[in-house]
Amino acid sequence: MLSSAVIGTEIDIAADHLRAGRLVAIPTETVYGLAANAFDEYAVAAIFKAKNRPQFNPLIIHTDRIARLSGWGLQMPDLALALAARYSPGPLTYVLPASDRIPDIVTAGSGAVAVRIPDHPLTLALLSVLDFPLAAPSANPSGFVSPTTAQHVFDQLGQQIGYILDGGPCRVGLESTILSFLEDTPTLLRPGGLPLEAIEKLIGPVRIPPSGYSDNPVAPGMLARHYATRHPLLLGDPERFMGHCDPGRTAIISFCKTYPQVPLNQQFVLSANQNLEEAATRLFAAMREADAMEIDVILAEIFPDHGLGRAINDRLRRAAETQ
Ligand code: TXA
Ligand code: MG
Repeated sequence: MLSSAVIGTEIDIAADHLRAGRLVAIPTETVYGLAANAFDEYAVAAIFKAKNRPQFNPLIIHTDRIARLSGWGLQMPDLALALAARYSPGPLTYVLPASDRIPDIVTAGSGAVAVRIPDHPLTLALLSVLDFPLAAPSANPSGFVSPTTAQHVFDQLGQQIGYILDGGPCRVGLESTILSFLEDTPTLLRPGGLPLEAIEKLIGPVRIPPSGYSDNPVAPGMLARHYATRHPLLLGDPERFMGHCDPGRTAIISFCKTYPQVPLNQQFVLSANQNLEEAATRLFAAMREADAMEIDVILAEIFPDHGLGRAINDRLRRAAETQ
C-alpha cells in the first residue's frame, strides 16, 4: 500500500505521475475522476484495483479537445459534432465506435468507447500537456457516492493514489450525461449534468431505453450497488415514512421544504429557492454528511423530474434500490 496521497494544484506533478503510469485524481465540473493513461493497460488496470470495480464496466476517456480524437482513430457522427460545438467542454459523454488505439480494458471489449471533454481549467491544462487521453471513472470505491471535493477523494481512496489535483468543489456535482451514438438515433445511457431538454433542443428526439438507464451496458443489471449509503435510504414523500421512523434518528434530503418532526441539523435542504442546479451541486455532499450521522435512516424526496431533477432522481433511485 502507498502512503497517503498528496493534495495539490501542480499540473506538472500530476503529469509526471500519469506519464509514469501512476494514478492521479482529477477535478472536473461534474465529479472528481480517478485518472490513468488510457493507452497504458497496466495503469488502467490499477484504476479497477483501486476502486474495486468489476472489469466488465468500461471507462470514459477524457481529453482537452474534440480535434484530437481523429488522431486516435475516433470519429464523431454529425449529431455528436453539433452537440460538441455547443457543449464541449461540458458535462456530456459521447459513446462512439472504438478504434485499435483504445485498449480492451478501457472499452470492456465492447467495441465502443466513451469520450468526454471535461470543463475544468486545471484538468484542461493538464490534458493539454499530455499526449494521451485519461481514462477516468468517478474517484470513489465502486458502488459508493461520487466525490465532489478533493477531501472526499482523500477520505475514500487516499491510500491508493499518489496525487490528488485539487480544483475545488465541483460546479455541477453530478456525473455527465451519457449519449450513445452507435445507432442513427442517439440513446440516453445515463441522465446527468447536461439536461435532456438542452440536448433534444439542439439535435431532436433522443431514444430513452424502455428498460430504464443501464449503468453497465455490457452486462446490464449486474451491478448490485450504486451510490450506496451506509444507512438505508428511502425515496418518496418523507411524510409517508415518518410514522415508521424515530424522528431523532432520521435524516432528510429535500428540495426546499423542512419537516418539523426532525431536528434541523439532520435536514439537508438542497435548494431553498428551488433551483435544480444548486440542488445537484449539493446532492452527493448531503448524502455523505447524512451518512456520517448517528441515525437509522435517510429519507429523500423525489425531485421534479425535469432538467437536472431527472439525474438527481436517477441517483437517489439507485441509492434506494441498493438497500
Ligand atoms: O462525469 C463523469 O462522467 C465522471 C467524470 C470523472 O468524468 N465520470 C464517471 O465515470 O462518472 P464512471 O466510470 O463512474 O461512469 C461512467 C459510466 C459507467 O456507467 C460506464 O458503464 C459507462 O459510463 N460507460 C463507459 N464506457 C462506456 C461505453 N464504451 N459504452 C457504454 N457505456 C460506457
Ligand atoms: Mg461512477
